[in-house]
Amino acid sequence: MTAADFRSDTLTRPTPAMRRAMAEAEVGDDVYGEDPTVRALEAELAALFGRAAALFVPTGSMGNQIAVHLQTAPGEEVAVGEASHSYDWEMGALAALSGVQARILATDRGRIDVEAARAALRPAGGFRPACRLLLVENTHNFHGGAVVPLSHLEALHAAARDRGAQVHLDGARLWNAAVASGTALEAYARTADTLMVCLSKGLGAPVGSLLVGDADLIARARDVRKRFGGGMRQVGVLAAPGRVALATMRERLAEDHARARRLAAGLLGNPGVTRPFGEAETNIVLVQVAGRDAAELARRLAARGVRASTAGPDRLRFVTHFDVDDAGVQLAIEAFAAALSA
Ligand SMILES: Cc1ncc(COP(=O)(O)O)c(C=O)c1O
Repeated sequence: MTAADFRSDTLTRPTPAMRRAMAEAEVGDDVYGEDPTVRALEAELAALFGRAAALFVPTGSMGNQIAVHLQTAPGEEVAVGEASHSYDWEMGALAALSGVQARILATDRGRIDVEAARAALRPAGGFRPACRLLLVENTHNFHGGAVVPLSHLEALHAAARDRGAQVHLDGARLWNAAVASGTALEAYARTADTLMVCLSKGLGAPVGSLLVGDADLIARARDVRKRFGGGMRQVGVLAAPGRVALATMRERLAEDHARARRLAAGLLGNPGVTRPFGEAETNIVLVQVAGRDAAELARRLAARGVRASTAGPDRLRFVTHFDVDDAGVQLAIEAFAAALSA
């Protein structure tokens, strides 16, 4: 392999089976609720999580923001862990689309402290707005793909319940968490009122995420999706590769995790290289090179055919996925050592 792109698992391209499914998909107008392939995908997804309903949305960001919109009112707060995608990487959508402000909570490997969450989630009173929704992310992207343990999610959910608040789980990579920890998807789903999962990351579908929850909430989510411009027509052509992804791509994520561990070991073998968030548990490797300019290192890697993204002034992020193989990992390890010493 002479080139390997580790910038993101969103770079995965649809497999031949996905492309065939796209070509052959039965379709209808999904805004009328008449696309049989979308309906089948939504039903499969809801069943997989043991929940009543699911809604196909174009992106994970839209899924997160519909969930926020439905479970808050303008002027209220959401409690969210620092470096979370839903507030840090979605173009200020919390404020712009739902008129809510974010109460940022410290996290340890993506885990929000349960007592801090309990304190943050409060009813309105004394000129202070209600904080009605807790946003949780699993795996946690910018904490190096950390898996938030089920027991921790259960404790957060119980704290939210005590405070009369809801929980939304950003599960863009929940598939990775489930494979790495052996936790059942249904068990994760019981810890959240709404959850969002992406088909377009490690599972390799070209497009698509789903919002999962109770029937009445998902019915209302359909209307919000339309308002946000996400009502799509013969979109079975995109749901079809998503069904292939669900059926065939989940178990193989363990290969990406094994490659991430090998890659982490290789990168950490260089002097001065540390990991800011502990071991690579899933498919994301974050490394820190104190005193070095990450952007410059990324340019040197690119010159050697390896692409990685920066995750801070001295941090690089590598994401493994099915379009990088063992040779790509080896290339990255060698290129990184060369970039450091160049
Ligand atoms: C944790 C997390 N949540 C949500 C998203 C948003 O997904 P999308 O790019 O489909 O909007 C991402 C994208 O990388 C993500 O990493």
